[in-house]
Amino acid sequence: SGNKTFTMIKPDAVADGHSGAIIKMIEEAGFRIVSMKKTVLTPERAGQFYEVHKERPFYADLCKYMSSGPIVPMILEKENAVADFRTLIGATNPANAEEGTIRKLYARSIEANAIHGSDSDENAAIEGNFFFSATEQF
Ligand code: CMP
Repeated sequence: SGNKTFTMIKPDAVADGHSGAIIKMIEEAGFRIVSMKKTVLTPERAGQFYEVHKERPFYADLCKYMSSGPIVPMILEKENAVADFRTLIGATNPANAEEGTIRKLYARSIEANAIHGSDSDENAAIEGNFFFSATEQF
């Protein structure tokens, strides 16, 4: 038991064949998978998901990249889920990520950085509900 976070394996890591290895790391770190699927975002839906970044210079590129191929969104549960998951994935820029983190191992760049992790309990709930209905959360 515990609280929840939201993640998605991004198009670069899915295309590079790292989904399985990343899911294995997540489960071995003690997270329980509440919801999971493989899907694709339209540029419009990517724009909605990243609405908080709409004034940032990287927003247009980010929406294009995040809709460039399939992603694997998941809701995860663990004690201290949000903070522990951000430790597991490492810094946004893989060049600054700690050894052994998912981004250090699998990210291509600061944009194509392999995986997302919610930054708060509130955003975890909003982001999880963006992808999964109540009947898809176990
Ligand atoms: P994430 O932190 O999951 O959500 C915002 C995303 O924007 C980030 O991952 C990267 O994929 C992307 N991004 C691209 N360029 C930058 C940048 N300069 N700083 C932060 N995020 C960036």
